[in-house]
Amino acid sequence: MQFEVWAKGLATLSVDCIVLGVFEEGELPEETHGIDSASNGYLKKLLARGDFSGRTGETLLLAEVPGIEASRALLTGLGAKKSFGRKSWRRSLGAAMTAISKTRIASIAVAIDRPPPKDLDDYYFGRAIAEIVGSTLYRVNDLKTTKKPKAAPLQKVLAGPVRKAGVEAAERGLEHGQAVSSAVSLQRDLANLPANVCTPIYLADQARALAKQYTSLRVQVLDEAAIKKEKMGCLLAVSQGSAQPPRFIVLEHRVGGRGAKDDSPPVVLIGKGVTFDTGGISLKDPPGMDEMKFDMSGAAAVLASMSLVAKLRLPMRVIGLVGAVENMPSSRAVKPGDIATSAAGLTVEILNTDAEGRLVLCDALHYSRRFNPAIVVDIATLTGACVVALGHHHSGAMGNDEDLVHELVEAGMRADDRAWQLPLTDEYADQLKSNFADFANVGGREGGAITAAAFLSKFTKGLKWAHLDVAGTAYQGGAQKGSTGRPTPLLADFLIRRAGL
Ligand code: BES
Ligand code: MN
Ligand code: ZN
Repeated sequence: MQFEVWAKGLATLSVDCIVLGVFEEGELPEETHGIDSASNGYLKKLLARGDFSGRTGETLLLAEVPGIEASRALLTGLGAKKSFGRKSWRRSLGAAMTAISKTRIASIAVAIDRPPPKDLDDYYFGRAIAEIVGSTLYRVNDLKTTKKPKAAPLQKVLAGPVRKAGVEAAERGLEHGQAVSSAVSLQRDLANLPANVCTPIYLADQARALAKQYTSLRVQVLDEAAIKKEKMGCLLAVSQGSAQPPRFIVLEHRVGGRGAKDDSPPVVLIGKGVTFDTGGISLKDPPGMDEMKFDMSGAAAVLASMSLVAKLRLPMRVIGLVGAVENMPSSRAVKPGDIATSAAGLTVEILNTDAEGRLVLCDALHYSRRFNPAIVVDIATLTGACVVALGHHHSGAMGNDEDLVHELVEAGMRADDRAWQLPLTDEYADQLKSNFADFANVGGREGGAITAAAFLSKFTKGLKWAHLDVAGTAYQGGAQKGSTGRPTPLLADFLIRRAGL
């Protein structure tokens, strides 16, 4: 896909289609006025007849609009003028792209009027265009044997209008947006795979493939024996019931390339890579259990983010860690009441084998210490309780460093991939008391998303750490079942900012 900005002369752009926004009031925003006069009032007449409502989500494809170079024009509703903002702009662009993806249109000029710059500046304008184009054209890598519908032929997208002073920022936005979009697609591809394909070994192979693709990345994969040497007793307790052996993945981006010396304190990202979560002996209910193939979404987001860091050559050391395991019941599986010893040396009474994510993460968090990290962020589909608390709109954000949590929440707002902070205060840890070990792996139903984070916080003393619970945001159920690619846009924004780009 080719992305460029356009500045003026919309009527003379030779593309297959120009995309115009129309308000519910039947008004054409400023920038499309040129088209109306070029076409001798054609659009005004059409709107006066009431053929287009202008509601967000609604589109109308017009052929042979007089007076313009493009062979088609697509109208997309902007909703009511008074409530127009970044959100409705994004929705109308999404609707337009969906309509275009169903046609043979190969080149477009996006000319949807934009909300004011404080709501959407030139950089984020470019980013949003590339990201929305990418996500609407994304197709699930399904295993259907029926013939696949042809991919949309769209090849070229012109974004504008952009004033001269904003061209550089918009172009940078388009470039970054494409990187975010391919990272999001990578996450979605990995997470959408069935668990019989996407095993811990498969995830490790994907990390190796990334290190082959990008010269800044070096990869190290710990097999079961190496994981035992690291004394990751909690991760191994989860894995022991499965015929699939575990893997621990270390993927590092170095500024001067993979061979360069770089001892700077890195950003460490840790992903929960439970390739399938049956719950183990504390078996889950059958309805919806298939969705537990998405329980490696955190791991997929980490691999995706590493690909973005490498693609954009961010001038910053970043390390991705993934604990990849399958959580199964079997005669060898860990049982409620079993006690495991974590790599940190703390003992954990595993009262519920379905609270396995925190067991994998605690050993990964401990592993991160050897890198003397600047900050550590873990990403995990950790708790159903987080979905109860926040639904599917916000990821849960917690941590032991307020500045870091705020930095993540703000990145989420800019990237339209929002997170909301939950209060991780000391009291919650009381719920994890155990009579037999240093603590238990569950703390009862109340405040479940927070007690899970409180468990992790036991392993992060002295680290600047934040935790993103993406159980409600990383995938969708129902008719649209599939990975969303979240929170990769948030992480991308966070990393790009931190790198100062
Ligand atoms: N992977 C699940 C969390 C989850 C639930 C993700 C729903 C997405 C949707 C996690 O391993 C889990 O099972 N958590 C338990 C914890 C409980 C036993 C304390 C849960 O949320 O029920
Ligand atoms: Mn579980
Ligand atoms: Zn899980």
